[in-house]
Amino acid sequence: MPNNPRQLLVTSALPYANGSIHLGHLVEYIQTDIWVRFQKMQGHQTIYVCADDAHGTPIMLRAQNEGISPEELVARTDREHRADFADFHVEFDNYHSTHSEENRQLAETIYGRLKNAGHIHSRTIKQAYDPLKEMFLPDRFIKGECPRCGAADQYGDNCEVCGATYSPTELKNPVSVISGATPIERESEHFFFKLGNFEAMLQAWTQGEHTQPEIANKLNEWFEAGLQDWDISRDAPYFGFEIPDAPGKYFYVWLDAPIGYMASFKQYCDRHGIDFNAWWDKDSQHEVFHFIGKDIAYFHTLFWPAMLAGSGYRTPTAVFCHGFLTVNGQKMSKSRGTFITARTYLQQLNPEYLRYYFAAKLGNGIDDIDLNLEDFQQRVNSDLVGKVVNIASRCAGFINKKFAGQLSEKIAEPELYARFIEASDHIAALYENREFSHAVREIMTLADHANQYIDTQKPWVLAKQDGKDQQVQDVCSVGLNLFRALVTYLKPVLPKLAEASEAFLNIEPLVWQDVRTPLTKHTINKFKPLMTRVEKDKVDAMVDASKENLQATQQKLADSNIEPIADQIEFDDFARIDLRIARIVKAEHVEGADKLLQLTLDIGNETRNVFAGIKSAYQPEDLEGKLTVMVANLKPRKMRFGLSEGMVLAAGPGGKDLWVLHPDEGAQPGMRVK
Ligand code: 2FM
Ligand code: ZN
Repeated sequence: MPNNPRQLLVTSALPYANGSIHLGHLVEYIQTDIWVRFQKMQGHQTIYVCADDAHGTPIMLRAQNEGISPEELVARTDREHRADFADFHVEFDNYHSTHSEENRQLAETIYGRLKNAGHIHSRTIKQAYDPLKEMFLPDRFIKGECPRCGAADQYGDNCEVCGATYSPTELKNPVSVISGATPIERESEHFFFKLGNFEAMLQAWTQGEHTQPEIANKLNEWFEAGLQDWDISRDAPYFGFEIPDAPGKYFYVWLDAPIGYMASFKQYCDRHGIDFNAWWDKDSQHEVFHFIGKDIAYFHTLFWPAMLAGSGYRTPTAVFCHGFLTVNGQKMSKSRGTFITARTYLQQLNPEYLRYYFAAKLGNGIDDIDLNLEDFQQRVNSDLVGKVVNIASRCAGFINKKFAGQLSEKIAEPELYARFIEASDHIAALYENREFSHAVREIMTLADHANQYIDTQKPWVLAKQDGKDQQVQDVCSVGLNLFRALVTYLKPVLPKLAEASEAFLNIEPLVWQDVRTPLTKHTINKFKPLMTRVEKDKVDAMVDASKENLQATQQKLADSNIEPIADQIEFDDFARIDLRIARIVKAEHVEGADKLLQLTLDIGNETRNVFAGIKSAYQPEDLEGKLTVMVANLKPRKMRFGLSEGMVLAAGPGGKDLWVLHPDEGAQPGMRVK
């Protein structure tokens, strides 16, 4: 046990339950997992929890589109996420869902306490409403022209062309992304959290070094701009928790998402007999850390501490933000094949390569990090395979073959080994402070020293000389002890490499302090290769596979006889087409026309003369008396043979395969087709 055992609860942001984990997400999970593993190696009680973020409109609509229930979608994504994390060795102590009983109860408790304390009020607001889908529209589900620069196809909250921010009511020609209908404004009662009530508390919290300096600056800007009330309710239909005593009103997904941290921890406590309140009481001395992306800092550094304080819980010890991931210097892109999912990566490459590369890039700030695929390959090969693993493979053979696996009785190079011990506190401090790239640099400098030592001693030369056996054993024993120290320091980053090394060295799982006591007079096992090189082919295959979906769709279209779908039209364009049932009262050949038949169509109150290109499929006499569908409001067109007053709808590839007829079951000429 360490002198100062700590109790830490650590979280990563909860991924939405409607999408796959990709390399951008993994920056955070890998960062948190490294930190957690480091804390555990120090002997601190550390509990790492996460969950799927299951609620909200996008998840509800995605499930509808797939024809499944939101619960089914959530269950399927949960399985996928868990497998992805496990395969990247991201080891949660508990993984739950925000759509859980624990979360419902905690959300109701927190909301109830905030309400009783006067921090919630209600007010009627006007919001965009989709009259066809019969639901209120989140800003992201409305598109239109930017009120400032006029750019088409912009979301309801901001313009990606000129950067303007606005409310959806300001968009020109807005349409619902869901149905294409023009949104209307509708009133509804909403519940608001009075964030302003917490200004003094939040100001004090910010001064307390609970956030990084960059975020503290941002917080000051937010304080200056003024803390606005936060709308925490949504109207049905919504996938979430219904608000107590407010039928048809639901908690906004972002209200119960961070409560999901507590809910997942609650489930862990119940399963392991841990006292939940000891960690979450107002005066708890335990530590709570949230790792998040910088884009969701507002939720975690304002709303969340305020909600906790307002409901009588403790506030987080710290919120750690990280930057975004770019690949080859650019935003991840599907067309470039750099939008890489966790699974696509795993199909080609060892997850520890990425863990190492991210560690080698991550600092404790909020700068973006870049995954340069060439550098990735070069760095992993030169550092891990070329430097670290190489030490073991250079020494193990001699110890196994010449000395039956037995290490020397003492460390023959105590000063060199002492340097490795001395580095321990510094490297630990760097991990603690999330300066992983610096820690990795220090570890690689030690690896260089170890390799230089072996290069100078040349055990392969000594092994051929008489009377040098002891020296060979000593040099290789020092080498393997240096290797063991390096593996200990890298263990938070490379848990599987560490596990394989522990098996090879024939030792118990390494903890941080083990470096202080080297292995002497100890028997190791046979050496097996611990890590292979990153192959360029595999990296290329991963990028190609990430392009695959796009290419596959294009190829499928090209291979089929199906014409590509035309440019999208607005719902309004479609709604302007007036389709009617028409009875073909007369059908005749047209003198001089190869393809046309002349049809006389009865559409209830009037008859129309229409020329239709369906001669290849029908004899006129087969058509007379039958029903068809026509576009009734098409402007009459003057043709060589006369005026055509509409158009008959036909389906099929052409030739004999053209169908115009509507089944005669209850249809009447003039009926509108919808
Ligand atoms: O931004 C996101 O992906 C959210 N699902 C993160 C939620 S974190 C927490 F608040 F639950
Ligand atoms: Zn604009």
